[in-house]
Amino acid sequence: MARSNAAPLSAAAKRRQQAAHESFLKHKGYRYFKVAAALSVLAILVYFLHDPIPRPNGGTWYGYTLGTMSALLILWLTALGIRKRRISAGRWSLKAWTSAHVYLGLSLLVLGTLHTGFQFGWNVHTLAYGVMVFVILSGLIGIYFYTVIPKKMGRNREEMTREQMVQDLNALDRQLTQLAGPLPSEITNLVSQSIQKTKVAKGVFSRLAKNPGPDATDKAVKKLRQLHPTIDGREREALSAVIDALERKQVSLARARRHVRYKTMLELWLYFHVPMTFLLIAALSAHIISVFFYW
Ligand code: HEM
Repeated sequence: MARSNAAPLSAAAKRRQQAAHESFLKHKGYRYFKVAAALSVLAILVYFLHDPIPRPNGGTWYGYTLGTMSALLILWLTALGIRKRRISAGRWSLKAWTSAHVYLGLSLLVLGTLHTGFQFGWNVHTLAYGVMVFVILSGLIGIYFYTVIPKKMGRNREEMTREQMVQDLNALDRQLTQLAGPLPSEITNLVSQSIQKTKVAKGVFSRLAKNPGPDATDKAVKKLRQLHPTIDGREREALSAVIDALERKQVSLARARRHVRYKTMLELWLYFHVPMTFLLIAALSAHIISVFFYW
């Protein structure tokens, strides 16, 4: 009977392994969801218990407190961009930070709205609020992207890195050159077209396309399959090997294209979320300056 050589995992190692596979949304038993929910409930309670009526707006102690908290929170949420580019594990790992980013970012919807006291108009204050809501809503879409796409990318890559995908394609091209070398020019031309003209992706639309349409490799496979029964003997065997290599190239290309497609989707989302964040900082600065200097 076969026996595993692997030593059984200790309880701590099992916990670490489980934590590594846990999504940022569930991080530490929804710790930051609980913090954000408590903060929001507290803000709502104080709002309704506030004396006197009418309810407070940005110009009361309550409004200033919520306004300061919201502005600091926005700056901290923005700092995720810096944090992402530094490597560190443990308590403030990127997963912990992203989890807090998502839930505290959502709580801003409550804090920011109560800060306004529901006084909206065509002014810089409402502009700052509107942009904030936009960034938060775009974040909600980002949750879908960041929970679904990385899993799909993992399944698609099958442990391969981007560099390995490129190396795999280059190796197949070298093999094709060798296999097609002794064959008639009609065949070698089709193989050269596949090597020279097949691109993983060209522009943004082709990077995002699920079915980019037949490329030079697909055309070569189609024509060579038609040619195959018309050739005899050793050449036919050699042609079979060429077709086989081209078909493996099609599989590798499909994997590389899916990888590029997923990566582009994540990048495109960031191209929206991040510039909107900068617009928010600008509108927030205008809001704060106008409140303190011109009011
Ligand atoms: C005003 C509120 C917010 C601001 C200012 C903000 C800002 C940012 C910034 C600067 C980044 C880093 C982008 C980069 O450089 O790669 C980021 C990433 C992200 N944000 Fe937000 N965000 C806000 C709210 C939210 C909310 C409410 C959610 C979810 C509901 C969210 C979800 C995300 C996600 C999923 C990422 C990507 C994390 C990663 O790359 O691993 N954001 N945000």
